[in-house]
Amino acid sequence: MTQPKVIGVVTTGGDAPGMNAAIRAVTRVAHSKGCQVVGFERGWEGLIMNNFRRLTPRSVGGIIQLGGTILHTARCPEFKTAEGIQKAAKALKEHDVCGLVVIGGDGSYRGAHELSKVSNTQMVGLPATIDNDVYGTDETIGFDTAVNTAVVEIDKIRDTAMSHERIFIVEVMGRQRGFLAATVGVTVGAEIILVPENQCNLSTVVETLKDNARKGKRAGIVVAAEGCGRVSELAKEIEEKTGSEVRITILGYVQRGGSPTARSRLLASLFAEKAVDLIVQGKGNRAVGLQNGAVTSIPLEESCSNSKPIDVSLLQLNDMLAI
Ligand code: F6P
Repeated sequence: MTQPKVIGVVTTGGDAPGMNAAIRAVTRVAHSKGCQVVGFERGWEGLIMNNFRRLTPRSVGGIIQLGGTILHTARCPEFKTAEGIQKAAKALKEHDVCGLVVIGGDGSYRGAHELSKVSNTQMVGLPATIDNDVYGTDETIGFDTAVNTAVVEIDKIRDTAMSHERIFIVEVMGRQRGFLAATVGVTVGAEIILVPENQCNLSTVVETLKDNARKGKRAGIVVAAEGCGRVSELAKEIEEKTGSEVRITILGYVQRGGSPTARSRLLASLFAEKAVDLIVQGKGNRAVGLQNGAVTSIPLEESCSNSKPIDVSLLQLNDMLAI
């Protein structure tokens, strides 16, 4: 009798809502196809230390609605060393893992790509990050949830902005990229969106806000990605140059947690099905994604070596909507 195939699963990098839905779906699709599943704990550290648990259809019950990741996640400096990668490859061999589903963002993909160079295990990336900055997919697991979380909070902030006729600078996550800021900005009706991809031009910000005041728009929301930095300096400058009252809210980690939206759960389930399919067919070193509404995959290396472009038309649309 042939041994069932073993599929590994790991969550690495920052947690994102929907990771648990993905773990559940990988496990159940794999079992439906006659495979067994091993979950490695605390990201790459779990492979290096050989910390794992068997995942069964029952053990992943009741988690689809939970934020975070039941497998835990961690930043793992040792995995950046050749020894660390060798240890991880050894664990995969020991468990006879034919394919490893790596649930995470671009950093996780780069790790998986490095590991694929020394391991026979097929790597498949499932994009999960609230930053939505993974090349090869229009959307990542968790992005929709983070957008909705930010929108709910900023709608409340707008009540005070309107009542007191104040300018609010709301910082959303996105250390490197502005996908979250751009989508949140458009959907809360922000007066200005600042993303790290574009240099923040202070005089343009001030002029826009002064112009708004002249048009009778004295309240305003500026949505700034974390990567733009210097929000307190910006607030001071705006206050000095426009005479308006300015307040700052940093949304922070509330955007990373919480129950995943239906969309994040659905993407997690669809991506997981694709990932398991690829592994069962012996096709590895791929990155699963959503392109123009279809679940697809591209070579993992291609995803690692390209940077996803920001949607400039979204920012241009906002300029029209914010008049
Ligand atoms: O990956 C999402 C993200 O929220 C980034 O936008 C942010 O810069 C980063 O994680 C911070 O994560 P940590 O504090 O866990 O390093």
